[in-house]
Amino acid sequence: MKRITEPELMEDETQVLAYANADFSEAHNHFIALIQKQIVTDQMSEIVLELGCGSGDITQRFAETFPQCVVDAVDGSQTMLNFAAHRLPLHLQQRVNFYSLLLPAIHFPKPRYQAVFSNSLLHHLHNPNTLWESLKQVVNPGGMVFIMDLIRPDSISEAKQLVYDYASGEPEILQTDFYNSLLAAFSIPEIRQQLNRVGLELSVEQVTDRHVFIAGKI
Ligand SMILES: C[S@@+](CC[C@H](N)C(=O)[O-])C[C@H]1O[C@@H](n2cnc3c(N)ncnc32)[C@H](O)[C@@H]1O
Repeated sequence: MKRITEPELMEDETQVLAYANADFSEAHNHFIALIQKQIVTDQMSEIVLELGCGSGDITQRFAETFPQCVVDAVDGSQTMLNFAAHRLPLHLQQRVNFYSLLLPAIHFPKPRYQAVFSNSLLHHLHNPNTLWESLKQVVNPGGMVFIMDLIRPDSISEAKQLVYDYASGEPEILQTDFYNSLLAAFSIPEIRQQLNRVGLELSVEQVTDRHVFIAGKI
C-alpha cells in the first residue's frame, strides 16, 4: 500500500485536545521499557533531547524514569507545547524544558546531546531524512538514539482492523488520526533503506503488531 502523508504539525485545538486526553500508557510505557533495555538507568546521560514531544506524555514518563536527567523537549506545534507545559507536574519543572522548534532546524537548544529520543514523529515528516539528518546533526558521536513509530500496514483493511482493535473505544477524531497515521507511516524495509542511504547503523526491530523500535549509537 502506498504511503499517504498527513500534515506534519498537529496544531488544531480539537485534534490536540483529543490527543492530549487519550490514554497512550501501554505504548508509551513500552517505549520507556525498550529504552531501559538498551541502557542501564543510571547511565543515561544527564541532558537529553526529545524530538516531537507533542503534549508531553512521554516526556514526563522519561523524566520520572530517569531522575538524574534534564529533558529538552521540542515540537513545532505551539498548541501541543501549551498542553505539555500546562500539564507538567511541579516536581518535574526543574528538569523538563519545552521549546518551540520546527524540524529541520539550524539550532537546537544545545548544539549536541549524548542521547535523543522520539516517538511517533517519523510518520509525520513528509521527508524522513529530516529526522535522520537531525540525529546526525545533534547527537554526539557515540551518543544514543531511541526512536519508536508506527509501521504502515500492507492494506487499507489491515489499517482499519488496527483502528478497530486499538482505538474503537476512542473519540472519532482520535480514530481518524490513528488511521491517517497508519497510512502515513513507513514500512520496515523503507526505514532500513532510509538509514542505509544516510549512513546510520541503527537496529530496526518490530516490537508490536504496529510499532517499530529503532535504536543504537551514532
Ligand atoms: C503524533 S505526535 C507525537 C507526540 C509525542 N511524541 C507522543 O508520542 O505522544 C507528533 C508530533 O510531532 C510534531 N511534529 C511533526 N512534524 C514536526 C516538525 N517538522 N518539527 C517539529 N515537530 C513536528 C507534531 O506537531 C506532533 O506534536
